[in-house]
Amino acid sequence: MSKIGVEMEGEKQPLLAMRGITKSFGGLRALTDVDLTLQEGQILAIVGDNGAGKSTLIKILTGVYQPDAGEIFINGAKVEMSSRRESIKAGVNAVYQNLGLVDALPAPANVFLGNEPVRRILGIPFLDNRRMREETERILLENTGVRLEDTSVPTLNLSGGQRQAVAIARAVIVADLKVLVMDEPTAALGPEETRNTLELIRAVRDRGIAVIVISHNLEHVFAVADRVLVMRAGRAIGEVDTAGSSGTEVLGMIVGSAVVTAPLTKTSAQGAQQ
Ligand SMILES: Nc1ncnc2c1ncn2[C@@H]1O[C@H](COP(=O)(O)OP(=O)(O)OP(=O)(O)O)[C@@H](O)[C@H]1O
Ligand SMILES: [Mg+2]
Repeated sequence: MSKIGVEMEGEKQPLLAMRGITKSFGGLRALTDVDLTLQEGQILAIVGDNGAGKSTLIKILTGVYQPDAGEIFINGAKVEMSSRRESIKAGVNAVYQNLGLVDALPAPANVFLGNEPVRRILGIPFLDNRRMREETERILLENTGVRLEDTSVPTLNLSGGQRQAVAIARAVIVADLKVLVMDEPTAALGPEETRNTLELIRAVRDRGIAVIVISHNLEHVFAVADRVLVMRAGRAIGEVDTAGSSGTEVLGMIVGSAVVTAPLTKTSAQGAQQ
């Protein structure tokens, strides 16, 4: 297990670095001194039990919450993620678990929600529906490889995988996106749609956007991620390369025992090294 939070000499400057992130909600300490490093071109998974602090860390990165302590750097420059808007400006956007789509609207309206291109006729603004449709088709294809047969149907009628693609398209249209964050993208999907979603994640990475993905499913994590950051009780307790690790090792880190040789009982998990 490599030591986290310490840059090795000669290691290239990370695309994104979160350093010493600490956050409490009232009396509850959700995060303690968390470091996260993301390199360009990387898919980083964050794993950990319920309540480990994964979503809170990501919400700090995307400007939803402010940390009590800690700093965030993009390409070595300190950034203040004081709001979603500031985070997007710094090149970080997120797809949350509920996707945030307006079910009644078709894909183009969702992709451009709040960013609609306008065409003026005699000075009067009209939504440029044709441009939205064409751009949506292009963005979907380029970023996710997904081709919708009919872009006029409400997103409610699309499959889970297609909805995921629309949510990703909306997240990646922001100018100069560097990092896409996905919180539990496969949690509610069947096997086929899960495979598609893992493909979508790779497609985004292949477009030059680094990805942070939160998942409870270690099989998915090992299928798609280059590195895994393990969180436990609000701390980042270790980090591994997927190529040099295994689900068993990571599971052991999640529950707090270095090596899992037998099915864990509650007591053995609790009694393990903290
Ligand atoms: N807005 C909030 N107000 C109060 N406590 C919160 C808030 N958000 C998170 N917490 C608490 O912070 C801790 C970390 O929660 P967080 O949602 O980050 O965990 P998580 O790792 O994402 O868990 P899960 O896998 O269940 O999604 C938990 O104890 C949670 O109850
Ligand atoms: Mg969560």
